[in-house]
Amino acid sequence: MTDLISASGDIAAADAEVLVVGVFSGEDAPVLPESLASVDAAFGGRFAEQLATLGNTGGASSLTRLPAPDGLAAKLVVAVGLGDAEHLDDEILRRAAGTAVRAAFGKDTVAIAFEGDPEATATGAALGAYKFDGYKTGGNGAERNGDDAPQTVAVYGASEAAVAKATVLAESVALVKDWSDTPANLLRPPAFAIEIEQAATAAGIEVEILAAEALSAGGYGGVLAVGGGSSAEPRLVRLSYRPEGAAKHVALVGKGITFDSGGINIKPGAGMWDMKGDMAGAAAVVGATLAAAKLGLGVNVTCTVALAENMLSGSSFRPSDVITIRGGMTVEILNTDAEGRLVLADAISRALEDEPDALYDVATLTGGQPIALGRRTMGLMGTEAETERLRRIGEATGEHGWPMPFPEDIVKLMESSIADVSQCATGLKRDGHMVQGGIFLSKFVPEELPWAHLDIAGPADSDSTYGYISKGATGRPVRTLVALLEEFAA
Ligand code: BES
Ligand code: MN
Ligand code: ZN
Repeated sequence: MTDLISASGDIAAADAEVLVVGVFSGEDAPVLPESLASVDAAFGGRFAEQLATLGNTGGASSLTRLPAPDGLAAKLVVAVGLGDAEHLDDEILRRAAGTAVRAAFGKDTVAIAFEGDPEATATGAALGAYKFDGYKTGGNGAERNGDDAPQTVAVYGASEAAVAKATVLAESVALVKDWSDTPANLLRPPAFAIEIEQAATAAGIEVEILAAEALSAGGYGGVLAVGGGSSAEPRLVRLSYRPEGAAKHVALVGKGITFDSGGINIKPGAGMWDMKGDMAGAAAVVGATLAAAKLGLGVNVTCTVALAENMLSGSSFRPSDVITIRGGMTVEILNTDAEGRLVLADAISRALEDEPDALYDVATLTGGQPIALGRRTMGLMGTEAETERLRRIGEATGEHGWPMPFPEDIVKLMESSIADVSQCATGLKRDGHMVQGGIFLSKFVPEELPWAHLDIAGPADSDSTYGYISKGATGRPVRTLVALLEEFAA
């Protein structure tokens, strides 16, 4: 992993191969902040003019590379546009830093100086340095192959604390991405449970793993039904972070389907490979819990993740089955591909037994989510105060979300004539597909409890590389969850 370093003083004096500087947009040429006076001097006072000649007038995330002039220790100068100086915000900084660090792959040392909050710059730089190692034989990852992330990035103006926090966030996000992009054969529920246990133990978090026998004894009918078709047993993993003096208790719950074939209601072949990432919700809540512990946040966190592989076999559950969720509620199954809500119902029910002050569940739950909101905005369902809180936090972190209603006609569609609740809308109507999932989960959460359900089916993954986001798993919404936990911390 790239080492972030806190640095201060004039970036022109930095002892790094690459200098990354931020410039603002201007009419004919970029506007240089005063802090770049000595860099400009090294360019003979013609830095802005040269950038303009190369087509860079400072638009957000525009990027220009120039050979460094004599007088700078660096070899390469990378100028990144930060847009209009009046409208600078943290997300612009994170994206610009991420773009710049990716442009510096293959170089060892980078120094970066932007105006604005250096913690945002540090976070964007650390996130942008991510690379999935992959499985090619002959050494990608372990050996240097010319396109690897810089070894060090010095962030000018960032305090030790800012750098430490950015590092923790980026490490958690990287772990979540690694897990989410791991092929499904290499991360089945028992293996995933052990990986979570190892990461949590290393962070000083208490771990409990429930295997098949404990799940049967505990009445976890959702997890057992969904995991029943696989030769790899399901698991329920619980992490308890209990810092001294913490007053509040937050429950985090995640969907951990290590592969979603759809089960008996098998999915179409095209795109099924994406379903290796159907455990991104579980990965994200674990990642946030690890970050909370590493940052020493003063809030109790219990993280419950339900891990199962949704497969087809003679022991698969089927449409028409009635199953019993932990706590006793019965559910009529209509479609085995709507498996996430079943494992979540068990996990939520278990999480509530600890009487948390608030509960948040995260899941790649419905294909309806990206259809309604696109691939960069998560769907937020739950109590008004909590969905609004996550919308507000998401705007600050750049992990956007939008609150959804529970319309009465869709609520009505979720009634079953033979069980306490129907798994999906009767007749499998697609109306309000995403909110069907939220409405189903709401049946397992007491009305007065602060709660939000985050549907991240789209945002968990990106089909392109931009800013600090790389193609593939995104690690969303780890940073939002950490910011949420900070609000509960004493
Ligand atoms: N894991 C999927 C949802 C999903 C779709 C996540 C695309 C990421 C990308 C979920 O288990 C699923 O299959 N949902 C069904 C529900 C339906 C059968 C009621 C869906 O969205 O079609
Ligand atoms: Mn499914
Ligand atoms: Zn699924």
